[in-house]
Amino acid sequence: MSRIGRSRLAVLISGRGSNLQALCEAIAAGTLDAEIVAVGCDRADAPGLEIARKFGIPQVLVPRASCASRAEFESRLFTQLEGYAPDWLVLAGFMRVLSAQAVARWPARMINLHPSLLPRYPGLDTHARALAAGDREHGASVHLVTAELDGGPVLAQVRLKIQPDDNPERLAERLRPLEHRLLLWVCSLLVEGRLLAESEQILIDGEPLRAPLLLN
Ligand code: GRF
Repeated sequence: MSRIGRSRLAVLISGRGSNLQALCEAIAAGTLDAEIVAVGCDRADAPGLEIARKFGIPQVLVPRASCASRAEFESRLFTQLEGYAPDWLVLAGFMRVLSAQAVARWPARMINLHPSLLPRYPGLDTHARALAAGDREHGASVHLVTAELDGGPVLAQVRLKIQPDDNPERLAERLRPLEHRLLLWVCSLLVEGRLLAESEQILIDGEPLRAPLLLN
């Protein structure tokens, strides 16, 4: 894919924003050839907004409580984000379930980072659920967003061996740096045009993606 200029990312967050920070740092270091054109957020108290401020990135803050309905929330958030003309929407800790109508505004142009080896454990409490199931390994996935919660095609994953003394907090802590690497890797592949996501098929280096890419 040839394009003029750097790829434009909009990053959506609800909380801490450590993945946003990792993206900002990679861009500043020149290891990710992209620009974050806006940070979307549904919570005025999200610590990640401070990261956006520090890096001088425009914020689109639409508190869910300020909207009468999910439709209004999505309409305000996405209409404002569209004003920044992003190529990709990157959901990094964005804790809202999106409607089919909202997802359809960005066909195959929205990715989400999820803290499990999908299709295992869509939804919340993934670390506790992996431990409760006695899993030997855990991990994170980046997938295309579809109307199904955490159910879109998985682009890439990172795996992590569960240790005997893991608890949900420790597991989340150990996984976090791997999540950062995974998200950066997928964003790099997307902005370099090596990973091409169309609604019908996904290509990696010109070949159909038959299984999620695995980060070493
Ligand atoms: C990450 O664990 C991600 O997998 C999940 O939300 C968390 C976001 O963390 N979707 P942060 O806000 O980027 O620090």
